[in-house]
Amino acid sequence: MTATTAGIVPLAPEHCDALLRFFRDLPEGDRTLIKEEVTDPETVRGWTSREARGQRWLFPDGADVVGYVAVIPQPGWSDHVGEIRLVVAPGRRGSGLGRQLARHALAAAVGSGLTKLVVEVVADQAPALGLFTALGFTGEALLVDQIRDRTGRLHDLMVLAHHVGGTWSGMATVGVAEELGQPED
Ligand SMILES: CC(C)(COP(=O)(O)OP(=O)(O)OC[C@H]1O[C@@H](n2cnc3c(N)ncnc32)[C@H](O)[C@@H]1OP(=O)(O)O)[C@@H](O)C(=O)NCCC(=O)NCCS
Repeated sequence: MTATTAGIVPLAPEHCDALLRFFRDLPEGDRTLIKEEVTDPETVRGWTSREARGQRWLFPDGADVVGYVAVIPQPGWSDHVGEIRLVVAPGRRGSGLGRQLARHALAAAVGSGLTKLVVEVVADQAPALGLFTALGFTGEALLVDQIRDRTGRLHDLMVLAHHVGGTWSGMATVGVAEELGQPED
């Protein structure tokens, strides 16, 4: 395991209870972005089955989980596209964990042959926008008033995309190639 992936582990059956606790403790708005029934034990356990779609990792801290990232390949004629879903425990934000998880997921997604990555970000969430922009994602769609929070306030949703080139040059520019042991030129 390289320094940049230190601490990140693939989701395994023994992590499910801690991951469920992590999701249950998140603010509701953050849970919504994962777009799956993340507080349902059957759903979370299903992610570790052989048939499950996608790759998922977490960042454990003792018996707890403090970060989660997934790359979910899109179905059918978009099966070259992967959607990234990322969340860090509120008390652990701002210390580089989100960036580390996102870089890991991006490198693994490219390594698995996906050629386009997308992520949906609430447009007023500066940390999420800054993080993915720094990894080479750019805005591809703006869905106005797409999200309604608990107070009824509407927020725009941005779809950011990263198009993976035929070479590793794109990855090199965002410093991710070393995640997979690839040369940066
Ligand atoms: C987005 C998220 C994963 C970032 O996690 P994090 O661990 O705080 O991220 P990092 O500490 O690695 O910060 C990455 C970048 O975010 C930005 N950032 C972090 N905290 C910030 C803040 N409070 N204000 C503005 N920008 C901030 C910076 O650009 C930072 O880069 P820098 O280290 O060069 O300054 C986290 O805020 C989160 O879980 N949000 C809710 C879920 C979500 O929006 N997920 C994304 C779409 S699925």
